Amino acid sequence: MSATTQTSETNAPLASLDEWEDFLQQRYPETDGETAVPSVKANADQHEYRDYRAEARASVKEFYRLNHRYQTFDFVQEKRAEYLPLNHRTMGIWEAMEYLNTLVDDSDPDTDLTQIEHLLQTAEAIRADGHPRWFILTGLIHDLGKILCLWGEPQWAVVGDTFPVGCRFSDKIVFPEFFADNPDSATPKYQTENGIYEPGAGLDKVFLSWGHDEYLYHVTKDYLPDEALYMIRYHSFYPAHTEGAYGHLMNAEDRRLFDAVRAFNPYDLYSKTPVRPDVKELRPYYEDLIAEYFPPTLRW
Ligand SMILES: [Fe+2]
Ligand SMILES: [Fe+2]
Repeated sequence: MSATTQTSETNAPLASLDEWEDFLQQRYPETDGETAVPSVKANADQHEYRDYRAEARASVKEFYRLNHRYQTFDFVQEKRAEYLPLNHRTMGIWEAMEYLNTLVDDSDPDTDLTQIEHLLQTAEAIRADGHPRWFILTGLIHDLGKILCLWGEPQWAVVGDTFPVGCRFSDKIVFPEFFADNPDSATPKYQTENGIYEPGAGLDKVFLSWGHDEYLYHVTKDYLPDEALYMIRYHSFYPAHTEGAYGHLMNAEDRRLFDAVRAFNPYDLYSKTPVRPDVKELRPYYEDLIAEYFPPTLRW
């Protein structure tokens, strides 16, 4: 069965995209004043080991089952060919934020943050810590690739922890057992450690499962510093940035820039607060910041 012939029901097991992020937060809990980044996780004995399988809701499990089943090497190539020419729409960054905000799902409007609110909270947390302006801007835009959902892409092709295709699936990926149903698991050339890649090839040459990270990277790649682009492109690559897998495919540049990805991660995972940011009040500051780096319109 091809991915596109599934019903919309099986394509949307999550009540909202946030359900995936809530699960990540549960899996990588913030630890007293510190963050659950690898340096901390390395001292795992200080922390209770969380059994994510026991804690995952049925909807989240179903989401990962679909993600691991359908994210094949061929599927990734198909989506790259469809989206990377960037000929779906032309719009500015703020306009894209408002467009993403039109995403209607089953989240609770009384308690759940809107997409713009999540973006502003992330950016405001980065700003409050005194980070450079490009870093704040990265927080503001990092999830805009989720507009893929508005173009009919199923949840499992927009969000979810990303992982390389074209080589063996790491058992550090969440719910690795679901890869048994991925046709690539039965394709010998994709099942060696390096698969179709040269050892140490560098992640730029490696195809990751398709989602909002890779898409937004291509939209923004001419306008931001490398650190920002790594944050955007790899923020969902938990098997690498948090679990330490796939080092054999990285080059020195990747290793250096993954410090930036890890610096970004806590702001993505732990910046959600119940206090809604004042979008109207913050908008002028962020419009200036956007104009500092981006042209008035971009190709999406
Ligand atoms: Fe994201
Ligand atoms: Fe996010």
